[in-house]
This record gives sequence, C-alpha cells and structure tokens, in this order.
Amino acid sequence: MAKFLSFPDSFIWGASTASYQIEGAVKEDGRGKSIWDHFSHTPGNIQNGDTGDAACDHYHRWEEDLALLQRMEVKAYRFSIAWPRILPDGNGPANQPGLDFYSRLIDALLEADILPYVTLYHWDLPQVLQEQGGWARRSTADAFVNYADIVSRALGDRVKSWATHNEPACITWNGHRYGDHAPGIKDLRTALQVSHHLLLSHGLAVPVLKQNSPSAETGIVLNTCWDVPASKSQADRDLARLHEGLYSRWFSDPLYGFGYPNDICQDLGIAPEEMSWIKDGDMHIISVPCDYLGINYYNRKIHRDAASENNLPQEVFEKQAGKDNWTDMGWENYPEGIYNVLLRTTYRYQPHKLYIMENGCSYNDGPGPDGKVHDIHRINYLKTHIAVCQQAVEAGAPLAGYFVWSFMDNFEWGRGYSQRFGLVHIDYENLVRTPKDSFFWYSQLCHHNGLEKPG
Ligand code: FCB
Repeated sequence: MAKFLSFPDSFIWGASTASYQIEGAVKEDGRGKSIWDHFSHTPGNIQNGDTGDAACDHYHRWEEDLALLQRMEVKAYRFSIAWPRILPDGNGPANQPGLDFYSRLIDALLEADILPYVTLYHWDLPQVLQEQGGWARRSTADAFVNYADIVSRALGDRVKSWATHNEPACITWNGHRYGDHAPGIKDLRTALQVSHHLLLSHGLAVPVLKQNSPSAETGIVLNTCWDVPASKSQADRDLARLHEGLYSRWFSDPLYGFGYPNDICQDLGIAPEEMSWIKDGDMHIISVPCDYLGINYYNRKIHRDAASENNLPQEVFEKQAGKDNWTDMGWENYPEGIYNVLLRTTYRYQPHKLYIMENGCSYNDGPGPDGKVHDIHRINYLKTHIAVCQQAVEAGAPLAGYFVWSFMDNFEWGRGYSQRFGLVHIDYENLVRTPKDSFFWYSQLCHHNGLEKPG
C-alpha cells in the first residue's frame, strides 16, 4: 500500500483568491475606482489589453462559487475585500452595499462550515487616494486604519482570521520601483516611502482589528522565494542576496523588530538616517506582535548578473528543461524551496504560527474532448509541495495551514487572463466554471487530511 502523509488534525486546508482578480462588477453598488482599474485601462500595461472589469464575475456568481468551495471540502476560504467597495473615496462614510456583499458571503461561508480568512489589502487602493499621493503619503496609513476599523466593526464578529496586507514587497517594488504593477511608478525613493507606510499601516491596524474582532487572529502575508546564485561569482551571490533582501527581509525584519536590513540599505545607497519619513516610534509600532505570519511561495530564482563583465560560467544551478520543471508562467517548479523558506522563517523569527497563504502554479490546460480538464502537471506541483510542507512540520515549522492559489482561474495582474492558476477552470467567453482534475485531487486531500506519498 502507498505510504500516506498525514497532517495534524487542526491543520487548515484552504483556497485563496483576491478581490480585483475575481469579482468584476467594477461599477456596481457604489464601488469606487481602484488603482488597478486605472492601471489596467492604460494601454500597454496588461498583456492583451485585459482588465478586471468582468474577471470571473464572482460578484454575481458567488453562490455558485461557494457551492464549489463546499464541494472542494476546504476548511477555509481566503479572499480579500475591495477597499473601493467599502469606501469609494478612500475615506469618509462606508458604502453599505459594499459591506453587505462581504457580510452575505461570510454568513454563507459559515453556514457551509468554511472559515473566512480575510485579507484587507490585496492591492486595490482607491484611485482617489492615489491621486493624493497614495502609499508614499503617511496619511494613507491613517486611511487604511480607518478602513480596517470600519470593516472589522461590521464583520469582526464572524471573521476567523485577518491579514492586513498581501505581499507588501510586490506593492513596493513592482508597483513603485519597476512600475509593472499599479500604480506604475518607477522611483526608488517613492518605493521606500511606500514600504514604510505599508508596514506602519499594518502596525497601526493590528490593535484596531484585535479590539473589534477579539476572537480572530491577525497577521500579514509576505512574499518568499528561494534565491540562489547561478555561479560562484560574487556578482551572482550578491544578486541572490539582494533579491532575497528586497522581497523578504526588507519586510520581515522590521515586523520582527530587527529594523530595515543594513546590507540592503547599502545596496540601495541610502543610509537609515536619510529615510526622513521614518518617525520616532514607527519601528516599535511596526513590530507589534501578531498571531501568525503568512507566507506565499511559488518558485526558486536562479540569479545571474548578466551585466557583470567576465562573470564566471553558470555552473552552480543548471536549469532543468521540461513542463514538470517549468510552469506556463515561466516560474520554476522547485518544491524544496518551500521547506527552505519555512525553516528559514522559523529559525530567524520564531513566529507562533505560520501559514502558506498561497502556493500553486499556472498551467493553461483547458477542457479536452471529454469536457474535463486533465491538469496533471498542477497535481504533480501541488503533491510535491505539500509533501515538503509535511517535512517542514516534522522539522518543527509551526505550519498551521495551506491555501492553494488559486481557487479558480482569474485575472493574473500584468499577465491578464493569459495565466491560469485555478483548480476551477473559467471559460472567459461564457464564465462557465469547470472543476479541473486537480480540484478533485485536492478535495480528496482535504477530506483525508493528507495524501499518498509521491514517487
Ligand atoms: C502572488 C499574488 C497573487 C497571484 C499570485 C500568482 O504574487 O499575491 O495575487 O497573482 O502571485
């Protein structure tokens, strides 16, 4: 008989989505404009000119989606709230129909025995706030706290788990330094201010969430990646360290009271005292204790400094070819990385609790002649990553749950609808939902709280 990998009884199996990626209905029930509406409607920003205007139309079809979540047998559903549905002008009075939408969803989830895991900010800032300076302005942190207060007063009696932000690193660097995400700014100083105000808003919001929602847990969700140099050269090693520092430590170190990492300040050519936007007491606020740390992990990155003259040949990590090793997104399938980041985080920060809040892959399989979606590569990806999570639990990582990205195919930011991460296939012509083979596989895993050992 095949060996079976089981998880602790309390382990939470879930699925994740985010508001702008699935909801559509961008003009309905008083919703205001977000920076992603603005960005996606600016020609040249998104592959094929796609926008989230309709997305999966989840706003209208949420009951059908909920029935699928039930069929999937997940214990929890992680979704995000669209700030512009609640506060179309960023601040000011709440838009009741917006709150009602999420309130109905949460009631129905609880009715179905599915725990609501709510992210407050998965990137859709009200456009009005961007026009006033966005996250580069300190006042946006106050606006976020006001938003968190309104939402948690309305929903805090029923939400099981709050996340303030999803991936502040992407907001900071992709949104404000590289400009490939909304709001499309390319300026280092702005990006640094943004990172600080995001972290500050987290630190200020946590006590508010705890007060309004005392029985829920509160945390934040960060990017991780397994970064390795392509050769033994100093240039490649520096690049790997820099990427890991920018995307992980720049956020996790301040959250755990270590401050902004010195090596990265040096790489960026900025001394801590030049960061005049850091006010007395901020670092203390940012390091407020949380109940958990959420981790998103997708891939390994092999760093090659092509600009460095006479770099050594690429020899440390060779690229493997083939669809099992590379997802359609062009991201490497590297399960050991999830173990490495879980253990690295455990040792350095000793969090009470960790979650994998996102893990998954883009493979663009569609329905075959039999009407089914045989996404065998996704099953392999999930199987191998989940097996490695189990090893991390055995090695002492306080991993309390795993959320697959994503429940369904959706608007993949700059890549539009060209990348399918879902366990449910969406036909974007008629919005028909088709559970893929991976959906049935995952439902078995949820049901049995474990899986057959791969290989
Ligand atoms: C993460 C995002 C998520 C999704 C996946 C593929 O960076 O948090 O919304 O787009 O990547």
